[in-house]
Amino acid sequence: MLEIPNDSLEEIVEGETKLLVPKASITQKVPPKEPAFFNPKAKLNRDFSIIAYAAFLESFKGPKIFLEGLSGIGARGLRVANELQIDNLIINDLNPTALKMAEYSANLNGIKKVEFFEKEVCRFFSNFSKKGKRGSIVDIDPFGSPAAFFDCGIRATMHGGILSTAATDLQVLNGLFQGACKRKYGGIPIRAEYGNEMAIRLVLGCLRVVAARLGVEVIPMFVESDMHYYRTYVKVLNRPDQQENIGYILHCKNCGQRQMALEPRQECELCNSKIEVAGPLWIGKIFDKKFIENMLNQVPKLQVNKVCEKTLNKCLLESEMPGTFYTLDEIAKKMKSSPPKLEDIVENLQKNNFVASVTSFNPTGFRTNANIKEIVEVFQSIQ
Ligand SMILES: C[S@@+](CC[C@H](N)C(=O)[O-])C[C@H]1O[C@@H](n2cnc3c(N)ncnc32)[C@H](O)[C@@H]1O
Ligand SMILES: [Zn+2]
Repeated sequence: MLEIPNDSLEEIVEGETKLLVPKASITQKVPPKEPAFFNPKAKLNRDFSIIAYAAFLESFKGPKIFLEGLSGIGARGLRVANELQIDNLIINDLNPTALKMAEYSANLNGIKKVEFFEKEVCRFFSNFSKKGKRGSIVDIDPFGSPAAFFDCGIRATMHGGILSTAATDLQVLNGLFQGACKRKYGGIPIRAEYGNEMAIRLVLGCLRVVAARLGVEVIPMFVESDMHYYRTYVKVLNRPDQQENIGYILHCKNCGQRQMALEPRQECELCNSKIEVAGPLWIGKIFDKKFIENMLNQVPKLQVNKVCEKTLNKCLLESEMPGTFYTLDEIAKKMKSSPPKLEDIVENLQKNNFVASVTSFNPTGFRTNANIKEIVEVFQSIQ
C-alpha cells in the first residue's frame, strides 16, 4: 500500500472532494513542483471544469471516460469522478509522487473505477487514440503552452467528446514575444485591451489548424480566462470542418476601430491609418449559447464558487455578439472624459439599434457591432 501521507502533506477538501496535497502548495505564494504540483488558486477553473463537464455529460450518450493527460495530484480528475457521474477515470502524470497522492485521494473518496499511468503525455494519449478506446472528456493542463499536445489530445478524444486545454504562457500569448507565439500557435498577437480574448482566439486557431489536418472539426463550447491562464473547451467531431473560421483581427491604433476578417488589410476603413494585424487566429464563435445555458442549469446542483454563475450569465449575454470588445476606460481616455456606467452604455447602444452586451473577459468591457465613431457618439449622448 501507499507510504503516503507524511508530514509535508495534508488533506483538504475542494468542492466535495478530499485531496491529499503538499502543505507547501497551500502556504507558499508560488506552489512548488516538488514533491508534486498543486495550485489551490486553480480551484475556480476546476469549478468551471466541473460545470462544463456536467453540462456535457448530461446529454452525452456514449461511454463517460475522462482522460487527464497531466493530472498532477489528480485534483481535476478526482473531482470529476467524485462530483459527477462518469464510468471511468484515467489519469496520467510523469511524476510518480503525484500519482501516489492521487491514488491515496481516490481511496479517500471511495473512487474505484480509476486507472493510473506514469507516461509522457503524448505516449499516454496515444494509448487511447484508437477508435473505441478514446475519452469522452480529455484534458490538457500543462505548465506553459498546451500546443505541443493538441495533436495527440485530439486523437484521443472520441467523436462528440470534449477536449479542454489550459495555457499559462501568458507573455507569449499576450504579445511580449511575438516570434515565440508565431512558432507555438501559428499566429501573432498585438497589444490591445482585449488581449485575453485575442490569446484565446490564438489557442483556438491553433487547435483548429491541427484538427483540420487530422480531418476533424473542433467547435468552441466555452472559454474562460483570468490573470494566470486561458482555458478552452471544444467539442470534437470526426468530420472535416467546412466553415472558414481562421482569419485576422484588424486594429487601428489611431482611431481605435477594430474588426475581425478573413483577410488582412493595410488601411483603416474609418481613418485610413495603417492597421495592426493579429493572427491568423480563430474568428468564429467562442461560446455555444445552448451549452452555456446548460452550464447555468447545472450550477445549483454543484458545489462551486458563486462567481461562476455571475461569469456564466455574462457569457450567455455575449455568446452571440461580435468578436473583440471595448473598455469604458479606453473610450473615456480617447474622449478625455470620465467613463459612464457600463449598463448605461450597453443600454444606449441598444436603444440606438446596435447590438451590445457586457463581456466575461473584462469587468468594464462591452461588445457591440457599432464602430468606434458610433460608440463615441453614444458616449457623448449620455455625458
Ligand atoms: C499544471 S500541472 C497539472 C495540474 C492539474 N491538472 C490540476 O488541475 O491540479 C502540470 C503537470 O504536468 C506534469 N507533466 C509535465 N510534463 C509532462 C509530460 N511531458 N508528460 C506527463 N506529465 C507531465 C507535471 O508533473 C505536473 O504535475
Ligand atoms: Zn482608424
